Amino acid sequence: IKRIRTHHLREMKERGERFSMLTSYDMLTAQVFDEAGIEILLVGDSASNNVLGNATSLPVTVDELIPLTRAVSGAVERAMVVGDLPFGSYQASPEQGYLTAVRFMKEGRAHCVKLEGGVEMAPQIERMTRGGIPVMAHIGFTPQSEHALGGYRVQGRGDTAERVLRDAEAVQEAGAFAVVMEMVPGDVAAQVTRKLQIPTIGIGAGKECDGQVLVWQDAFGLRTGRMPRFVKQYADVRSVLLDAARAYDSEVKTGEFPGPEHTF
Ligand code: KIV
Ligand code: NA
Repeated sequence: IKRIRTHHLREMKERGERFSMLTSYDMLTAQVFDEAGIEILLVGDSASNNVLGNATSLPVTVDELIPLTRAVSGAVERAMVVGDLPFGSYQASPEQGYLTAVRFMKEGRAHCVKLEGGVEMAPQIERMTRGGIPVMAHIGFTPQSEHALGGYRVQGRGDTAERVLRDAEAVQEAGAFAVVMEMVPGDVAAQVTRKLQIPTIGIGAGKECDGQVLVWQDAFGLRTGRMPRFVKQYADVRSVLLDAARAYDSEVKTGEFPGPEHTF
């Protein structure tokens, strides 16, 4: 199987073919998603609130994300693995960003990195690109700026659409090979997708993006409860696990497990 490279995504866009991306934070889900044909696996800073138990993505550190990134990149044969740069690890300067990105590439064996921001992150994107690191940008709603943006809200409604367009053009100009758009009105995301040469990847950004991304625990129903409107649930993994855990618990307590076939 041929590895997915940045040029393959660009060629897919040119041919009008869609591609898919999911988060993954461990070896076994990475193997499953890779086998399923998902083109891109993101070791998201969303590990913060989906794996490590924090309330938001803000507290996760580079040292926490790198081992997860290495687990995912070691498990895939085809998928491109994206290391997600955590809050505070790149915003200070292009140099800080480059050094953090190098750690994700060397220690995490990522194939590229992702950072949040548009116009204001262009110097970081340029620095990383110049240093041989492919960069995926992330614009629209950027969770690391939740507190500055005033909470989880759609970006680019009405006359702020121009801002999303400017951010998209700035990251392309700076050398990003793709751009995630989060919680952007569908018509704005469509306009950006037509305008850019690089592929766009939507999450809550409508059907006209070149690719789509979701957090796997949301999409496959490991996490339950209030879900953003852009999530579609494809499975109910939580009930499968809950049933299995209850069956195991019950058999241990009744003495049904282990049986003679499990005993040496
Ligand atoms: O960390 C993450 O999961 C993300 C995606 C939702 C784009 O950044
Ligand atoms: Na992220």
